[in-house]
Amino acid sequence: MTIRDSFSGRFGIIAAAAGSAIGLGNIWRFPYLCGQNGGGAFVLLYLICIVLMGLPIMLAEFSIGRKAQSNAYRAFKVLAPRKPWYMIGVMGIVASFTIMSFYSAVGGWTIEYIIRSVSNTMSISGDHTEQFNSFISGSYKPLAYQFAFLVLSFAIVMMGVRKGIESSSKILMPLLLILLIILCIRSVTLPGATEGLNFLLKPDFSKLTGNSILLAMGQAFFSLSLGMGCMITYGSYIKREEDLTSSAGMVAGTDALIALLAGVAIFPAAFALGIEPDSGAGLAFITLPGMFEQMAGGMIFSTFFFTLLCIAALTSSISLIEVVVSFCVEEMRIRRGPATALVAGCIFLLGTLCSLSLGIIPGLELFGLNFFDLMDYISSNLLLPIGGFFISIYVGWVLQKRITVKELTSDGTVRFTGLRIFYFLIKYIVPVAILTVFISKFLQVG
Ligand code: PHE
Repeated sequence: MTIRDSFSGRFGIIAAAAGSAIGLGNIWRFPYLCGQNGGGAFVLLYLICIVLMGLPIMLAEFSIGRKAQSNAYRAFKVLAPRKPWYMIGVMGIVASFTIMSFYSAVGGWTIEYIIRSVSNTMSISGDHTEQFNSFISGSYKPLAYQFAFLVLSFAIVMMGVRKGIESSSKILMPLLLILLIILCIRSVTLPGATEGLNFLLKPDFSKLTGNSILLAMGQAFFSLSLGMGCMITYGSYIKREEDLTSSAGMVAGTDALIALLAGVAIFPAAFALGIEPDSGAGLAFITLPGMFEQMAGGMIFSTFFFTLLCIAALTSSISLIEVVVSFCVEEMRIRRGPATALVAGCIFLLGTLCSLSLGIIPGLELFGLNFFDLMDYISSNLLLPIGGFFISIYVGWVLQKRITVKELTSDGTVRFTGLRIFYFLIKYIVPVAILTVFISKFLQVG
């Protein structure tokens, strides 16, 4: 057997896992869901889900991956031979496709906005809502950019894990953080910004519905890249001597921080500029250009921002693609090149439907959702939490405790004081919470 490529050292794995976690989920998806679900109360629910479910599941996934030294599907075949747990891996592969189909469309939007910033065509007409809507509902342009985004992602995947992901994450994620802080400062100093801050920070629980809880939970899974084997695959690249617990803490902490900063950058500006917080999927793409116009050197900031956002999206999509490609290479014995091309082709087909459902073929609706929203809903609110549920049952109740403890303490070389809390959460809280949210949402109990 060949020795698996591994990330170089501690910062390498944190950077790579954070690269997967931090992406459009934080800057595009979180603010728009937050805006549609009452602001502060949604933020609180999201943070609770991160701590009580996200962290334990991330630790569980890292442990499974490092122990089994393989992709998610094989990991369960190795650890639980002749049992159906490998279905978690299969579901993860399905989720990779469904997520990539709409993720690549939004990735394409970031490319359009880079071009608009560089060519300074953003501010010609001041109506950013109109500009955004006419772009995403167009025919060939969104598709061309989606294609470009996919080509970029697959090119990096072809280059292999280490070179591609690690080096870009290490430098660019901290840069994104700094830029976001600058944007937050500008946003909160705009006249009329306080209302937006209040919206984000003062929870108003009367605005929450049963659906918001499902959405907050789905967002926690989505934003930490959990429930679909991504962190299992990445766990397999972590060296034995690395401490899983502090790495998971760092990744989840940075991820939540970036989402909150995105909220602080967007809501005060949205209120100041008179943009409705519940404008939907365009919120970030409508608000931020408006704010850049109010900044000295705005188009330079805008270029930097959308470039970094595009790169953050790339490091996430690479991790999604890696799940499928490593399956094709390791399980189906397809060579890396053809496997990557095959996966790319399938994603582009599905992705085309997502893009076109926003304009050209609006009739493409199921359960009252257009194809784009449907893929998003199925992935984030169903597949990921279901995956998380089974991962928690597996690690909490099936996998020998000895094995998990060995991973969490790196063979006894590090102390993990939270072990009992971890087991309490993964055995009881995580599965019961996921089930409760599902039951109350889908069976309309209570
Ligand atoms: N976490 C990524 C983001 O926030 C998206 C993602 C989801 C990546 C699931 C991998 C797996 O953008």
